[in-house]
Amino acid sequence: MTDTTIAQLKDFVGQEVRISGWLYNKRSSGKIKFLLVRDGTGLVQSVMVKSELAEDIFNLFDELTQESSLMLTGTVREEPRSPGGVEMGVTNIEVVQIAEPYPITKKEHGVDFLLNNRHLWLRSSKQYAIMHIRDEIIWAIREFFHNRDFVLIDSPILTGAIGEEAGTLFSTEYFKMGKAYLAQTGQLYLEAACMSLRNVFCFGPTFRAEKSMTRRHLTEFWMIEAEMAYCDNERNLIIQEEMLAYVVEKVLKNCMPHLEKLERDISKLESIKAPFPRLDYGDAIKILQENGSEAKWGDDLGAEDETILSNRYDRPVFIVNYPKHAKAFYMKENPDNPETVLCSDLLASEGYGEIIGASQREDNLEKLLARIREEKLPEETYEWYLDLRKYGSVPHSGFGLGIERTVTWICGIHHLREAIPFPRLITRLYP
Ligand code: 4AD
Ligand code: MG
Repeated sequence: MTDTTIAQLKDFVGQEVRISGWLYNKRSSGKIKFLLVRDGTGLVQSVMVKSELAEDIFNLFDELTQESSLMLTGTVREEPRSPGGVEMGVTNIEVVQIAEPYPITKKEHGVDFLLNNRHLWLRSSKQYAIMHIRDEIIWAIREFFHNRDFVLIDSPILTGAIGEEAGTLFSTEYFKMGKAYLAQTGQLYLEAACMSLRNVFCFGPTFRAEKSMTRRHLTEFWMIEAEMAYCDNERNLIIQEEMLAYVVEKVLKNCMPHLEKLERDISKLESIKAPFPRLDYGDAIKILQENGSEAKWGDDLGAEDETILSNRYDRPVFIVNYPKHAKAFYMKENPDNPETVLCSDLLASEGYGEIIGASQREDNLEKLLARIREEKLPEETYEWYLDLRKYGSVPHSGFGLGIERTVTWICGIHHLREAIPFPRLITRLYP
């Protein structure tokens, strides 16, 4: 017997083959029974006809419960109305396990219930589509960097220096050395590596003890970060828009059935082409105030402000040159306006908010040290980082893109928690 997968069935029309999977659904119409089987590569309708099957096999129909595991042998036929364009005429069934009553059924379930059953919820068709799109996005980004000769540098997760800000650190006792922090970012290490390899990137989990319970915050999220030596913030913006345009193009090319499953408005993705508009932070504040926002110069932008701004464009928009005190210590002072820094936040379209944070880095030793002191960061833990400004300091820039926020936006879903296999929120550590 030839074993194959549902995705390959179209190559076996007219032949008898075996697939292995799980029962997704079943229905009955008189002497004909239908099994809807999934195997991780697709979904196929399989038809059981009483007169063509041994009695014990035909009777299995009543025994098989939702998510029972089984091996199914049958003849492949073309069926244009079926998903995948084929169906199977069942000739044999081997039961692997009869599943207990499955908690997730066709009825509506609350999100809390689904999250408690995340280990099972992942089998649902919408979650299946989201995981495929996440995979495509990550592959496309890796490919983008690889094609441009960026070198992958894996940064540590246990760290001794605060990467972003003191307020959202997870810490743990580290033997006799005091506290270790879970990395908020790989950036500082990439800054060291780019002085050796010029263009580098990292991709890993990052951790923030965010007290906020918004749909945009996880306590553990995955970030792609890039760092480039001899690169100013102008070129930094160009790389970001080219990368995102590439990612969206790849998803449109390779994930259409998944986008359709999610009922994504494809036309909104088709307009994501470089270049993206740039909006100065000061102008953004004026626009917000004209639209009734209470935002004032000096603040970081809130989620609602970001939504107002991003709704003005059909593609993502860069907000550039924020006030120095609204941003992290490492950003380079803007020579044209020292109250601001050379940085950008990229706001995704359709009101999805910030997906990338970026900046040119402060390359002047005195200025950087002054900012570390101003922020009351423990100076001694930055000795190695400050060395980079002593031994061949050069202009350099980089950015970090949050994978889950990007997946949420490209999938057009509401909440970040569905964009990661096992979300970590302040109230959720299980499963
Ligand atoms: O803007 P952030 O904090 O920037 C950095 O960490 C820089 N060190 C990056 C760099 O320049 N190398 O975070 C970058 C991105 C955000 O734009 C957002 O997409 C995501 O990371 N992010 C989060 N995603 C989910 N949950 C959270 N709590 C997040 N915090 C940031
Ligand atoms: Mg940010």
